Amino acid sequence: MMELLDYLGTAEHAAERGVEVIRAGLGRERSISGKGDRDFATDVDYAVEDAVRAFLGQETPEIPLLGEERGRSGDSESHYEWVLDPIDGTINFAHGSPLFGVSLALMRNGMPVVGVVYAPMSEERFSAALGHGAALNKQALRASGPSDLSEAVVAMGDFSVGLDADKRNLRRLAGLQRLVPKVQRIRMLGTAALDMCWLAAGRVDAVIHERINLWDVAAGTVICREAGVLVTDLDGVDYGDGAVSVLAAGPDIHRALLTELG
Ligand code: IPD
Repeated sequence: MMELLDYLGTAEHAAERGVEVIRAGLGRERSISGKGDRDFATDVDYAVEDAVRAFLGQETPEIPLLGEERGRSGDSESHYEWVLDPIDGTINFAHGSPLFGVSLALMRNGMPVVGVVYAPMSEERFSAALGHGAALNKQALRASGPSDLSEAVVAMGDFSVGLDADKRNLRRLAGLQRLVPKVQRIRMLGTAALDMCWLAAGRVDAVIHERINLWDVAAGTVICREAGVLVTDLDGVDYGDGAVSVLAAGPDIHRALLTELG
């Protein structure tokens, strides 16, 4: 069995393959396929997923893969699983915003242990392996943030679309109403993977996603944890496969947010 650092190397190369596909597609007309109410993928999302799948299929054929666009493939009995969001921030990407990235994690027994988020427009590659620290373009990352909520910049997930969106958005709005008078600022970047990386880099001080998919935040979870950030769900349980929400922050802000939103 390979070591986590070997897997990290493999994940970095795989994410690079994805980024090459994105770069080749920049400036070209994008075709868009609808996935549901105001939800879609571009042809580049699919092409990136296919390139990363092909690379990982060659390098680690024994490890199954869950991808946002093409679903799950491979040995369902494995303790390991690659989890891929070919473009996290698809709406940003489709609108010409630079805030998007390829996000790839390796899960072991349901917990993310390796993570790479590659944001091609800023040439930033965030990476981490459990027990080996987190890095941004090979420079070690150590999150440091305020301890008081009034100094915290809080990144929040998109409002819901699709089934039950109204009900879910009412909950988000109630949470926002409680936080707005207490925090320094609220941000909504439109990419959960970069929310997490920006938290690890100290550009925001907390991340809240009321409803989120594993592929959006699995890589960012390892990057945050290795940078010293707590990552749980909104009930305060350690984030892992099966969780539906994320609350990530340094210990003081995390505690304060749990109390505010609990
Ligand atoms: C989306 C982004 C966004 C989050 C949404 C996700 P996608 O991922 O991460 O920040 O709020 O819930 O669906 O669709 O661009 O991969």
